[in-house]
Amino acid sequence: MKRVGIIGVGEYLPKKILTNADLEKMVATSDEWITTRTGIKQRRLVSSHEAASDLAINAAKEALKDAGIKPQGLDLIIVATITPDMQFPSTACFVQAALGAKNAVCFDISAACAGFVYAIVVAQQFIARGTYKNALVVGTEVLSSITDWEDRSTCVLFGDGAGAAVLSEVKSGGILSTYLGGDGSLADLLMLPGGGSRNPATHKTIDKRLHYLKMEGNEIFKSAVKIMTHTAQIALKQAGLKCSDIDLVIPHQANVRIIMAMAKRLGLPEEKIYLNIEKYGNMSSASIAIALCEAVRIGRIKKGDIILLDAFGAGLVWGACLIKW
Ligand code: UT7
Repeated sequence: MKRVGIIGVGEYLPKKILTNADLEKMVATSDEWITTRTGIKQRRLVSSHEAASDLAINAAKEALKDAGIKPQGLDLIIVATITPDMQFPSTACFVQAALGAKNAVCFDISAACAGFVYAIVVAQQFIARGTYKNALVVGTEVLSSITDWEDRSTCVLFGDGAGAAVLSEVKSGGILSTYLGGDGSLADLLMLPGGGSRNPATHKTIDKRLHYLKMEGNEIFKSAVKIMTHTAQIALKQAGLKCSDIDLVIPHQANVRIIMAMAKRLGLPEEKIYLNIEKYGNMSSASIAIALCEAVRIGRIKKGDIILLDAFGAGLVWGACLIKW
């Protein structure tokens, strides 16, 4: 098996900013409530002409440049998203066409907030076995398109953005261990009930607002702390490492309280946790991808560092990836 690592990263955030003060004018909420309960201060939103693939393409171009790989050198493109441009074709196909990556196999993965980690693990399998050489993995979301802007319990949480990584064979370091899991019996805690084959879009589904995401925030919160802690422990065990070996954790950015509860359970100091939720909110599959890129760009991740990506999301699904940078 070949050793696989991330050789380039990229991100794209739409320009429009929606602050907590803006939300105060839209629903019965307050900056104080949002900040103390979630850690979020603002989030980015797409403009009317932007879809998930547009964000993905920008992030992908930056990652390819960073990796020094031409689009024609890509063998595989995996896009993780729960807000694809359309039901089909896959958003990965739009990305492939726009990049001119005509040699790449392309498909999407639906694993909600764990999507980017799932996609990394899938890409790793292909490269490790020698099936493909270079893979582009993107997490891209336009969550504003499935947010109910009249529901204060969810609309304050989400934002839009995309992050990307290029994976290839590396001589040293790279992915040390991975762990994926799921529990479909908890699917009803977070879902988008309308528009699929269960409830095809009709005037009735629209009137019932089934085309917006529904979430049992409290239940998800409790599961998330347990799951993220457990997932990190398994990934560490598989790599034969201890918590103290980690230089930086890039957790899914759903709620700062979930992240800090996980850090406490693992005995990790705050300075080893990367947070950007304040600026962007929860961007599902794009959250870890963007946080990883940002941490690299600002020098929080250096060569030789041990990084833990730790994600959970709707499904429920979860995943972790330990990487030596
Ligand atoms: O991406 C992966 C999946 N998602 C998550 O991981 C999200 C996990 N859940 C959470 O982050 C938290 O549960 C929330 C941030 C969603 C909610 O925080 P909470 O501390 O669990 O609040 P709650 O749902 O228990 O609501 C507490 C109170 C309620 O009022 P009452 O019943 O106590 O009078 C809510 O109606 O806060 C009220 N509330 C709000 N108040 C002001 C709910 N949303 C808002 C709001 N502004 N936006």
